[in-house]
Amino acid sequence: MKATAKAHTNIALIKYWGKRNESIILPTNNSLSLTLDGYFTTTTVEYNNSLSKDEFTLDGLAVSGESYKRVSAFLDLIRNMAGKQVYARVESVNDVPTAAGFASSASGFAALAAAGTKAIGLKLNDQELSRLTRQGSGSACRSIYGGFAEWEMGMREDGSDSYAVPIAPADYWDIRVAAVVLSSAQKSVSSRVGMRRTVETSPFFQGWLDSISKDLLEIKQGIQTQDFEKVGEIAEANCLKMHATTLGASPPFTYWHDTTLVVMQKIWEMRLQGTPVYFTIDAGPNVKVLYLPEYEEQVKQTLGSLPGVSDIRLSRPGQGITYL
Ligand code: ADP
Ligand code: DP6
Repeated sequence: MKATAKAHTNIALIKYWGKRNESIILPTNNSLSLTLDGYFTTTTVEYNNSLSKDEFTLDGLAVSGESYKRVSAFLDLIRNMAGKQVYARVESVNDVPTAAGFASSASGFAALAAAGTKAIGLKLNDQELSRLTRQGSGSACRSIYGGFAEWEMGMREDGSDSYAVPIAPADYWDIRVAAVVLSSAQKSVSSRVGMRRTVETSPFFQGWLDSISKDLLEIKQGIQTQDFEKVGEIAEANCLKMHATTLGASPPFTYWHDTTLVVMQKIWEMRLQGTPVYFTIDAGPNVKVLYLPEYEEQVKQTLGSLPGVSDIRLSRPGQGITYL
């Protein structure tokens, strides 16, 4: 009744931004990501009949409040699938800053789903595991797979056709991602709240949705032909469109800091000078930079010396779920 799983975070190149069903997490658009080897979560789940409630520690500290409720509600889904009413002790370690825009919810819920189902004796295939994981945190359903993955939004209201599928494995293309760390502080607007506010109030939301299918089609062509410039251009533009929707929300908000813009402008400058680098940004101030291996030193040196940059963490394409 005990299992340990490791899952990596993923960075969305076509963003998931908007839900059509909040309770079972159904998105308003397909999204596409690259799993990263540099950031991950390791989670152990042990079911025990002597427990009178679920217990959850993160990085060795007992968790309560909203984060505890999310984990316990997710374990309820697993218990229902297995038909077993038994509480669990969950010990999770994030090798990724929590709630700071580094996608800890993605690696966190993917690792929890994998360890939680294995420990209770369920044998799910990747598609079933992805569909379950989606209900913990949407972006997490893509972290089941290594390399590039696409979350198909599906059409059905019960969510049975909403899960991620693999596009290309981790060893398909050595594309790199540098996380330019500006702040690891917890953000004031979570992705969940930010997304909801945008869907409900931003007049730019429809424009965002209308632009997705073209971005998706073209980025998949770019991945297929390993056309780095094409993939980078589409990912960067898609990120800017997503962040633009937040400025139109009521009340308006942005995940960017002043230093975020400094990094973005430096990347534009590097491109003008002939270096093929592109950025994408999730729901937080930190910037993820896409580049090819031969530009690694230049990326590290140019961006590492900018004011406000506290660290640069380099990633290659990461693997999907592993069991330890
Ligand atoms: P992030 O950018 O880190 O994904 P979010 O606001 O989207 O930020 O999600 C952070 C939330 O994800 C945390 O507040 C917590 O509820 C949940 N979370 C993070 N890490 C884990 C983990 N290892 N196990 C379970 N839940 C986690
Ligand atoms: C900007 O997956 O964290 O990173 O489903 O509410 O848990 P919930 O949201 P979450 O949102 C991720 C938003 C994003 C874009 C992306 O990863 O696709």
